[in-house]
Amino acid sequence: MVDPLTVRTRTDDVAATGATEHESPTIRVMTTGHELDESEQIAPGASGPAPQMDFAADQVVFELDQLSCFYGSFRAVRDISLKVPKNQITALIGPSGCGKSTLLRSFNRMNDLIDSARIEGRILYHGVDLYENGVDAVEVRRRIGMVFQKPNPFPKSIYDNVAFGPRVAGFRGNMDELVEQSLRRAAIWDEVKDKLKTPGTALSGGQQQRLCIARAIAVEPDVILMDEPCSALDPIATLKIEELMRELKENYTIVIVTHNMQQAARASDVTAFLTMGEDRAGYLVEMAPTQELFTRPINRLTEDYITGRFG
Ligand SMILES: Nc1ncnc2c1ncn2[C@@H]1O[C@H](COP(=O)(O)OP(=O)(O)OP(=O)(O)O)[C@@H](O)[C@H]1O
Ligand SMILES: [Mg+2]
Repeated sequence: MVDPLTVRTRTDDVAATGATEHESPTIRVMTTGHELDESEQIAPGASGPAPQMDFAADQVVFELDQLSCFYGSFRAVRDISLKVPKNQITALIGPSGCGKSTLLRSFNRMNDLIDSARIEGRILYHGVDLYENGVDAVEVRRRIGMVFQKPNPFPKSIYDNVAFGPRVAGFRGNMDELVEQSLRRAAIWDEVKDKLKTPGTALSGGQQQRLCIARAIAVEPDVILMDEPCSALDPIATLKIEELMRELKENYTIVIVTHNMQQAARASDVTAFLTMGEDRAGYLVEMAPTQELFTRPINRLTEDYITGRFG
């Protein structure tokens, strides 16, 4: 199996894999067979496709093809094409208002709940067009769970918070086991095992967020989307969630929106940087393995953003 993150199409890397450039299984830069010279590498607003990544077909969970998101006549996200790899943590970063949350919500059809929202282009999920007629949006949201910025436990017991989703989905197995397993996977079991009947809202913010992650896991999703899951948490709770994310990626694909550069750099495997044009529509500037994007960004807009000169 090809490791999606270690094979890149710098010409020499391609030679090392034994593949011809044409056959290369992954693409970091849309190369044309020559190394980019300085002026091409740092080219704000350069036309052409954003530098991004490709992965072996069986490692692709989402494939966005020219995705645009609208609220009424306002285009919030413009022509984004990218692939999200399986069992990896993909970070979406970019200035406020560039459409990160909009994009994330399009991954599980959460935007359907907003009357004026619609998309153009396509999102393939394991090769299936998520917006095709006949696709069940409720099932989509079961498979592709979401954790929000502000922890939002239901006003129910800790146990019932976790059991709620499986009950609605008609789960017939051993609920006690499922609740325990979900809380364990969310790294909160030891803190709550003696008070499962107390309200979820009585927990600390960091605990509530892990409870929400347990709730998301309980319905056995494939993907977990996280929209700034740590922005309401202190640094210790934040590190706990990051550690948890690294454990969870063994079993799940994670896409996280974060404003915290250190968090993106620490916790994610690949990073997509978005910014917005004069029309305020967000677009993809570049996507790369996280370490590479933070140390060797190709586009000056990315460099300005990650070094704090912009945004
Ligand atoms: N429900 C909505 N109706 C109309 N416009 C919206 C709606 N939600 C978001 N927008 C607009 O879409 C654009 C993108 O918003 P979005 O919330 O996706 O940005 P973001 O990158 O997540 O920002 P932040 O970092 O501040 O969370 C903004 O111009 C915003 O005003
Ligand atoms: Mg947002």
